[in-house]
Amino acid sequence: MSELLKVEHLSKVFTVGLFSKRHVWALKDLSFDVKHGEVFALVGESGSGKSTTGKVILRLEKPTSGRVLFEGKDPFQMGKEYTRLVSAVFQDPRASLNPRMNVEEIVGEPLLVHGEKGSKDKIVDALKKAGLGEEFLKAKPENLSGGQRQRVAIARAIVLKPKLIVADEPTSSLDMSHRAGILELFLKLKQEGISTILITHDLRAVERVSDRVGVIYRGMLVELSSKEEVLKDPLHPYTQYLINSMPAKHPAERKEHVQELTQEEVQSPCPFFAQCPKKIPECRGELKEVRLNGRFVLCNLH
Ligand SMILES: Nc1ncnc2c1ncn2[C@@H]1O[C@H](COP(=O)(O)OP(=O)(O)OP(=O)(O)O)[C@@H](O)[C@H]1O
Ligand SMILES: [Mg+2]
Repeated sequence: MSELLKVEHLSKVFTVGLFSKRHVWALKDLSFDVKHGEVFALVGESGSGKSTTGKVILRLEKPTSGRVLFEGKDPFQMGKEYTRLVSAVFQDPRASLNPRMNVEEIVGEPLLVHGEKGSKDKIVDALKKAGLGEEFLKAKPENLSGGQRQRVAIARAIVLKPKLIVADEPTSSLDMSHRAGILELFLKLKQEGISTILITHDLRAVERVSDRVGVIYRGMLVELSSKEEVLKDPLHPYTQYLINSMPAKHPAERKEHVQELTQEEVQSPCPFFAQCPKKIPECRGELKEVRLNGRFVLCNLH
C-alpha cells in the first residue's frame, strides 16, 4: 500500500490562561503515515492529543511546527479541493448535524458547496452506502436513532467520494448495539479505497477494523505497528498498560489525565517515565526511537 498522508514532526502548543499564561504541548514531534486504503487507528487516553492530530489534518488547527502532506502536498495550500478529498466524522452526530435540515439537505450540503450536479442520485447513493434507504431523505435528525444519525454523518462524509475520512471517536457516543454496524462501514469504505484515521479509546474497535495502530501518550507517538502486533505483543509499557485497562470507559466517565509533573519526570525525556513499572536507569537518558522489523517504539527498554 502506498502513502496517502504523511504527518512529519508535528508539534502543537496551546497557550492557556488569561493572566498567568501556560503552554500545553498537545503534540510533540509526531510522525506517521497513512496508506491508500487502510484503516489507521490512533489510540491513547484522554488528553493525549488524538483530536488535535485529527484537527491539524482537517486544517481546523495550524501546527506549531512540523507539517502534514497529503499526496505530497501541503493541505493549507490546497484550498477548497482539500475538503473534497478529506472529510470528517465526529463523536456526537447530535451536535454535528444541523437540526433544522433534513437528511437530504445535510448529505447534499457538500455537493452544493462544491457545485456538483446530479445531487439527488449522489445523496441516495451515499445514504445507501451508509446503510440507509431513500425513505430517510426527508427525516430530521431528531427523529433518528443515534446509530442512524451517525450513518447520516457518514453519508455526508462520503458523498464527495473522499480519499480519507478522519473519524474522531465515531462510535463512543452510541449504544453498544449500534457500534459494530458503524465500524463495519469503515471496512466497507476501505474496500472502495477510502482510508480512515480512526481515533478511538476503544481497543475492541481497533481489533475489529484497523490495519495499523499508532499509540499516543502525552502528545508523543510511543508505538506504531500492525494491529496484530500492537494488541498481541505490545512493546511499549504504556501500550501494555492500555491493553490491560480494557474495556474503554464511556466518554462521560473519562477524565483527562491531568497530572503535575514530578521533578523526576521533568528531567526524563520519556513521557511515561514516572508511571512506567519497567523503568531502568537508562530511561533517564536520551529517548531511543527503535525500529524493529517495520515496528516503531519510542522506548529505551528495546
Ligand atoms: N483549543 C485548545 N486550547 C487549549 N488546550 C487545548 C485545546 N485543545 C486541546 N487542548 C489540550 O491539548 C491536549 C490534547 O487534547 P486533545 O483534545 O487532542 O486530546 P484527546 O486525546 O483527543 O483527548 P480525548 O480522548 O479526551 O478526546 C489536552 O491537554 C487538551 O487539554
Ligand atoms: Mg479527543
